[in-house]
Amino acid sequence: MPLRVYPQKVSWSFIKNYCYLVVDHEAKEALLIDPAWELNKIESKLQETETRCTTILLTHAHIDHVHLAERLVKKYEAQVMMSKVEIDYYHFRCPGLIALEESSVVLFGSTEINSILTPGHTKGSMCFWIENKLFTGDTLFTEGCGICVGKGADPENMFHSLQQLKEMIPLETLIYPGHSFGHRPGKRFSHLLKNNLYLHFQNIDEFVAYRMRKGQTGWFNFR
Ligand SMILES: [Fe+2]
Repeated sequence: MPLRVYPQKVSWSFIKNYCYLVVDHEAKEALLIDPAWELNKIESKLQETETRCTTILLTHAHIDHVHLAERLVKKYEAQVMMSKVEIDYYHFRCPGLIALEESSVVLFGSTEINSILTPGHTKGSMCFWIENKLFTGDTLFTEGCGICVGKGADPENMFHSLQQLKEMIPLETLIYPGHSFGHRPGKRFSHLLKNNLYLHFQNIDEFVAYRMRKGQTGWFNFR
């Protein structure tokens, strides 16, 4: 039976993001991606799906993606993983934290998780590829890509990361980003390739100039 994804929209103040429960119903185990803000909501979903959280994956170290990691790790004795680059660069700490090398493969039950290092939004952002699903954090949104501002961010890295995803990811893969700006998560990659302007650039200088253009009316107005 394939794993099932339960997107959880969580918020704190004006920040809204998605964390994901990825459930193995046969094994009664859940994997959590980027748990934050609303513990009750996440735990209710664990109860509803009759699963136990065994693994937590963190796409990057920003607070809206890691806020509940430590609490959940302690409570469920779950394994928690983040890219080694991200851990080292931002000095991220969490009990039982496992550092993932570039392109490492880890197991959730008998399912392989492929981790893809995709710097740009942060120094060591990672996407997680599980079956036909890709969890992209703040690297790739349905409508755009993550901002490349702040410590460790780099628009040139972002360009290469997006190119890498274009080369690796099959068209029918379902994309689950860390935030939504209009579309519900779970669109096919083919939809993004057609509609997401940030995947259209072939030239790095043009990409960087556009990503960093002046006069953007908001960080998440992508056009
Ligand atoms: Fe972020």
